[in-house]
Amino acid sequence: MERMTISTQPIEGQKPGTSGLRKKTRVFMAPHYLENFIQSVWIGIGGVTGKTLVLGGDGRYFNDRAAQVILRMAAAGGAKKVIIGQNALLSTPAASNVIRSRGADGGIIMSASHNPGGIDEDFGVKYNTRNGGPAPEEVTNQIFKATKAISAYEICESQDLDLSRLGTVHIDGMEVEIIDPVSDYAALMRQLFDFDKIAALFASGFTMRFDAMHAVTGPYATAILEGELGAAPGTVVNGEPKPDFGGGHPDPNPIWAKDLMDVMMGADAPDFGAASDGDGDRNMIVGRGIYVTPSDSVAVLAANAHLAPGYAGGLKGVARSMPTSKALDRVAAAKGLDCYETPTGWKFFGNLLDAGRATICGEESAGTGSDHVREKDGLWAVLLWLNILAETKKPVAEIMTAHWAEYGRNYYSRHDYEAVETEKAEGLMQALRDRLGTLPGQGFAGMTVESADEFAYDDPVDGSRSEGQGIRINFDGGARVVFRLSGTGTVGATLRVYLEDLELDPAKQDRDAQEALAGIIAAADAVAGIGERTGRSAPDVIT
Ligand code: G1P
Ligand code: ZN
Repeated sequence: MERMTISTQPIEGQKPGTSGLRKKTRVFMAPHYLENFIQSVWIGIGGVTGKTLVLGGDGRYFNDRAAQVILRMAAAGGAKKVIIGQNALLSTPAASNVIRSRGADGGIIMSASHNPGGIDEDFGVKYNTRNGGPAPEEVTNQIFKATKAISAYEICESQDLDLSRLGTVHIDGMEVEIIDPVSDYAALMRQLFDFDKIAALFASGFTMRFDAMHAVTGPYATAILEGELGAAPGTVVNGEPKPDFGGGHPDPNPIWAKDLMDVMMGADAPDFGAASDGDGDRNMIVGRGIYVTPSDSVAVLAANAHLAPGYAGGLKGVARSMPTSKALDRVAAAKGLDCYETPTGWKFFGNLLDAGRATICGEESAGTGSDHVREKDGLWAVLLWLNILAETKKPVAEIMTAHWAEYGRNYYSRHDYEAVETEKAEGLMQALRDRLGTLPGQGFAGMTVESADEFAYDDPVDGSRSEGQGIRINFDGGARVVFRLSGTGTVGATLRVYLEDLELDPAKQDRDAQEALAGIIAAADAVAGIGERTGRSAPDVIT
């Protein structure tokens, strides 16, 4: 077997974003593109000589080809071993778990998460460090630096490995262990949750629908929910992973998981509904007749986690990303827990989890997780909900009503304006930034600004500072709006507008969120000139 050194040149734009490098699949398939980036990862992490890495992905188009390239490059870089999921599949939380449980030095996850897959859709590559979490900025900065200076990469010449057969094979002296993607993960879930109680719930006639959206959680959900917990066959729908996710958009929200929403709002709805995204780290929770926002879900999980064996000892603290609603803060305050506010992106939770400052974390973008891994974890959230439902024996709607009555309801919504011209979106943000100092006291659509700033985060564990993390505007009376530009999009810019208002009166807690937020929605448009600057009259996606 021959190791080859291939000359190359830096390729522009290989800067990892909120969650790794995401580009159009054809961009990744272009000559040297993937190879340049992988070599830059090796350089950015100080080489792979003698290291053990984990490799897996969400099964999207090009996943299988990219895996063969990465294996050859790991071998050429002198890695000792790569642990890879069968057929190069591993959900993101499962990959995080394997890195941790096998004591690997790090891992590569091939995924563009909830973005569609296919030759004309998206692909992505993310490096996770030995704690199992996404590489922190100091590492991604090193990787990016390497992409700008690269002049050659190394790769072994070899046949493709058969990744469908479990067991150990070799490339050029490097060991490749092909593992079942589900079993380690299922074992971890068994430790955290009361599987007997949940099985008894299903045995008592409790019904559920889990929409795997033709993405990676299909095999996990089928094995755990139907296989171990005894949910009726057919509970998991769209359970077969497909390279193009069946032509769908594997993002578990009311828009892209509309089929599930329709079933759950219908007359014969099951007791509980859930969905997960392309790589299995996001989740959506729906009860019969009620959608639970991700911001509310993390608050309910934090309030009730002690009902599951893995969290019976209580929580060390909680954390949420800045644009996520403050519902979690209210639970934390009532329980005397520290509540951290971090920038958007799971990587910012890593230090808090490692330092034992937080146990449960959440993001408004359907991300919830705990210190069991260092990624958000879709199926974990679903199982914690099931454990809570098994203990309380109450319907989801009743749990929500009681939660709001106790802690208040943080009405919440996110409005996304997608594929906006980058200049216009940046112009909108800059104009807000320029006016931050003068906004307080000013009125917009009948609401008065109380304070306004651009969020910066000082990591309490390592002291690092992250600036430019979104513009926050608080209005008199507690309502707030946050503006930020997406760091995961692949076309133009996506403007995200996060809207929130607190309602403490139980008599007013059953309103439609868009109605309840109408005033703040109008104020957001007035203060930022969204319509005027973007030319859009309505958001593309409302969650
Ligand atoms: C989005 C979400 C963010 C999440 C990330 C990765 O990032 O907003 O919460 O961590 O995807 O799943 P954004 O596109 O907003 O930068
Ligand atoms: Zn994801």
